[in-house]
Amino acid sequence: MLSRPIMIGKNIFSKCRVNNITFKGNNNNIRNSFINNYTRKYIAPTSTIGVGYRRNVLSEPLNNSSTKIQTKHFTSTIEEEEDAAALDRANEFWADSDKREEAVRISDDLFAVPSPNAPQVDEILKQYELECANRTKFHAGYPYNLDYDFVDLFPFMKYSINNLGDPFVKSNYGVHSRVFEQAVIDFFARMWKLDDDYWGYVTSCGTEGNLHSILLARENHPDGVLMSSTQTHYSIFKAAKAYRMDVEAIDCLQNGEIDYEILETKIKHYASAGRDIILNLNLGTTVRGAVDDVDRVLDMFRRHNVKRENFHIHCDGALFGIMMPVLPSRSPISFQKPIDSIAVSGHKFLGCPMPCGITLTRKRHLEKMSEPVEYLNSIDTTIMGSRNGHAALFMWYALKTKGIKGLEKDVLLCFDNAKYLYQKLIQAGINAERNDLSTTVVLERPNEEFVQRWQLACEGDIAHVVVMPNITPTVIDRFVDELVNGF
Ligand SMILES: Cc1ncc(COP(=O)(O)O)c(C=O)c1O
Repeated sequence: MLSRPIMIGKNIFSKCRVNNITFKGNNNNIRNSFINNYTRKYIAPTSTIGVGYRRNVLSEPLNNSSTKIQTKHFTSTIEEEEDAAALDRANEFWADSDKREEAVRISDDLFAVPSPNAPQVDEILKQYELECANRTKFHAGYPYNLDYDFVDLFPFMKYSINNLGDPFVKSNYGVHSRVFEQAVIDFFARMWKLDDDYWGYVTSCGTEGNLHSILLARENHPDGVLMSSTQTHYSIFKAAKAYRMDVEAIDCLQNGEIDYEILETKIKHYASAGRDIILNLNLGTTVRGAVDDVDRVLDMFRRHNVKRENFHIHCDGALFGIMMPVLPSRSPISFQKPIDSIAVSGHKFLGCPMPCGITLTRKRHLEKMSEPVEYLNSIDTTIMGSRNGHAALFMWYALKTKGIKGLEKDVLLCFDNAKYLYQKLIQAGINAERNDLSTTVVLERPNEEFVQRWQLACEGDIAHVVVMPNITPTVIDRFVDELVNGF
């Protein structure tokens, strides 16, 4: 029996009988970790599960409800054997929001004896896990790649991995993943063609990357005025507010790109007034996936004689920053052009299961932002103090196992599927739009029930689907069918 629910691929198995397991490869750690974490103790010592060969653990014949599951490291055939009574009891409290809150509430009387009928922690967690699995299946709105397998990293959840301080400076705390963090930053520096003069770190999300980059820009251009399009993510305007900066929100073209004519008027105005310019360009806006044209903007700077030392260009590539370099693009993004910083989310296209991201900049920009901190034995260069060391490890794992080729495959797949979704919507008589450079498909806002079921992000009378690797043709067929015919 499995002692705890286990997620293998996209399936969750709990209270299952394990009939046989095949471990592949020579990784004893994975085998031992599986046995220790998931099998009941009475099975583990008596079974001699070997590496690289098949071994029967229980010999009962499999019935029709058995499921063959396969992952990189082990294959098992398991027979689902739900404890129906416990599940019914659990459903009873989880389906009712008052009872759910009551069950989840942490007792404020530390010495209270829990009622024997109260749901136990394992029942609560099981229900929560089922809910997570179910909500994962019906998700199309936010730009999160929910298709991943990080089972190799489960053993590291036992450790308090904290990369506090600067990623490139050793601190006194020893349980860190800085070497992985550095490898992640190095990967992005090479991808965006930044030479050795780079600096960056694994952030807690795309927002933190934006907050850091705009702070960096303001420290280098204290008098600078921040410009960005009105369809920019709110984190950029939040930064302007937090740092009390002058800001210009510039209208957009129909497709969501910044209105270049208005931008040029503003650049001309501020350049002639002797003000520095801090410009945020979007590599994929939140709602429409629109990409601002960096080459067009650089031409404007040239035309109005804005010198290199008088501007900072930040690129908000939360979603698309990592997809763009592997695509033929109208105006490719790279530090060979005079741009200054890029921020990306790690839980979006890359598919890390916790919010995270990276920010990358030219190292020399950091000089005004480096304060020594004796307590850390490091320097203070980041927004956060303690930093999630697991996130760095997860980002590293995703990049290391996929590589550029794997990313490219995922990007092309997403584009094919986005085109497929767009065509299906049009064929079904539903208004839809898609920017050529984006996998975001905008559609008329469906009814509220549908919006909740598929967790769609909406703005006014539109909603969107951001096609990530988990939005497969099967998901798309179901989505469109339910949109047209109901569910
Ligand atoms: C364009 C853009 N920038 C920044 C963000 C913020 O990213 P995060 O949610 O990782 O903080 C988002 C989020 O959707 C976004 O779409």
